Amino acid sequence: MSNRTWLITGAAGFIGSNFVRLALAENWCDKVVAADLLTYAGNLENLEGLLGKDDRLVFERVDVADATAMRALVANHAPDMVFHLAAESHVDRSIEDPTPFIRTNVMGTQVVLDAARRAGVRRFVHVSTDEVYGALSLDSTERFHERLPLAPNSPYAASKAGSDFLVLAAYHTHGQEVVITRCSNNYGPYQFPEKLLPLMISNALENKELPVYGDGLYVRDWIHVHDHCRGIRAAAEGGRTGEAYNIGADNERRNIDLVKTLLRMLDRPETLIKYVRDRPGHDRRYAIDSSKLHAETGWKPRVKFEDGLKSTIDWYLGNRGWLARIKSGEFMRYYEKMYAGR
Ligand code: NAD
Ligand code: DAU
Repeated sequence: MSNRTWLITGAAGFIGSNFVRLALAENWCDKVVAADLLTYAGNLENLEGLLGKDDRLVFERVDVADATAMRALVANHAPDMVFHLAAESHVDRSIEDPTPFIRTNVMGTQVVLDAARRAGVRRFVHVSTDEVYGALSLDSTERFHERLPLAPNSPYAASKAGSDFLVLAAYHTHGQEVVITRCSNNYGPYQFPEKLLPLMISNALENKELPVYGDGLYVRDWIHVHDHCRGIRAAAEGGRTGEAYNIGADNERRNIDLVKTLLRMLDRPETLIKYVRDRPGHDRRYAIDSSKLHAETGWKPRVKFEDGLKSTIDWYLGNRGWLARIKSGEFMRYYEKMYAGR
């Protein structure tokens, strides 16, 4: 019988937990090993309802940069595929202190790659980001495609680009089976409220100011997290080894327009918007061409942006306890530090 055990790193984070949920709900595999260090961004509540209830799910607390622990874990569970999502993921934090980004995103990726190769894992799926391509300008219609050279701008993006190069080096040097995915901005349930959408929803619910960086005319290309997860699966199962695949849903929006839409949907006034000091080195526009993944695997996004926004807002409205528990911890200290006097 074929081995259908999947090891998912970063499984207690936003995208990782959504990936685990879909994989189990839709029987993408037989067993999931969910690995996560549970940093400030990792939350076992994101796996609630499954942990201890679904015996196809095992949780392992592990640091992906710990070579001894990772080797033992991969050897022990002998997964067929590794989905590597564990990362430091927030651009603003990388500007404050890049050190954990280098450790987890660069060193951690090499450690997981090595552990997978030693244990004979069939395929290593590296979940990367469109930010490795750099930025596009507002007056062009250009979109990121996979043949572009990598030109990351923030410490976060540079650390992810470094990890992409290490994955490609493992393919070229050792013939290791690898696939890279590069997705645009995700939204959906369980996203940590340091990121634009959940931060704005949460502040609006509390009638607090909505801090919009700079002129607010920055453009991001939004995709529902479920569409991203389905894209990762498609690339893993149908993509060619050594290749990178972009994932996006053609939803370019200016930040200010998105924030105004959210306020309208939440029935809150635009007077809550506060323009604040810009992010240093802020990338102007992201837009992603995912035709390669579509052509090779048939994948395409399913969630209409307006429907996805509505269901996401409904999720945050229905899970205020989840938000409140996060905001009662380290988060408020972070918020004060990043936004006070901005
Ligand atoms: P997240 O910050 O919500 O989750 C990251 C998870 O990784 C957390 O659970 C955290 O505890 C875990 N982690 C961090 N350091 C670790 C370590 N040393 N060892 C083990 N676990 C560790 O991030 P996310 O938004 O879910 O992103 C997941 C992946 O997808 C990242 O690799 C990110 O670069 C990529 N990505 C994110 C987006 C997006 O819009 N959020 C878009 C494209 C790609
Ligand atoms: O493109 C994919 C990337 O998207 C992922 O690789 C990253 O992990 C993820 O964090 C995200 O990066 P961004 O920097 O685009 O996301 P963020 O939510 O931090 O910001 C989105 C936009 O909103 C960006 O232009 C900055 C702006 N912003 C953000 C915050 C937190 C604000 O104007 N105000 C804010 O308070």
